[in-house]
Amino acid sequence: MSKRIAIFVSGGGSNARVMIDRFQAYPEDGVQAVLLVSNKASAGGLTVAAERGVPSLVVKRSDWASGGELLRALEEYKVDLIVLAGFLWLIPPYLVQAYPKRIVNIHPALLPQYGGKGMYGKHVHAAVKEAGETESGITIHYVNENYDEGSIIYQAAVRLDPDDSPEQIAERVLRLEHGNYWRIVREL
Ligand code: GAR
Repeated sequence: MSKRIAIFVSGGGSNARVMIDRFQAYPEDGVQAVLLVSNKASAGGLTVAAERGVPSLVVKRSDWASGGELLRALEEYKVDLIVLAGFLWLIPPYLVQAYPKRIVNIHPALLPQYGGKGMYGKHVHAAVKEAGETESGITIHYVNENYDEGSIIYQAAVRLDPDDSPEQIAERVLRLEHGNYWRIVREL
């Protein structure tokens, strides 16, 4: 039987798109994206899901604190694994406890460097550029109650060119995310 994942997004959802497309095209992978959750009604990830026939849920701040509606939906869709893909709210204790070692995140840098509160998306790549790093990369990790601190499952690095702009670093890193996140989720 296929394992069922819920993908959580806050933005464009390119990782969600790659993952949904992969698992829809290859049922033999044994993974099915059954729900997309967004904390923003305007997130591009919602369109990605709608176009691919994946049901979605927009969570409000007020519900996030208690989790009633979200937990009901995760149960209703029989979700085995929660996959954070550019989701920016801190995961509350009730959710970590309800899905122990069953929530994973991707971070666009080599943790433990360039992680923590406020370190997301372009802020990460700007900091990497500012520090003059010669490489960056991706970290896929389990999620606990603190930003970017759960145990690391997989990392991959990419060489940076000294002339790379933060936007170019972002592109290199995103390419690495697209090539690897679905693969690691399939392994899990
Ligand atoms: C990705 O680069 C992901 O690693 C990052 O947000 C981007 C989402 O892109 N996540 C974080 O920074 C989390 N701290 P996407 O919406 O196109 O998949």
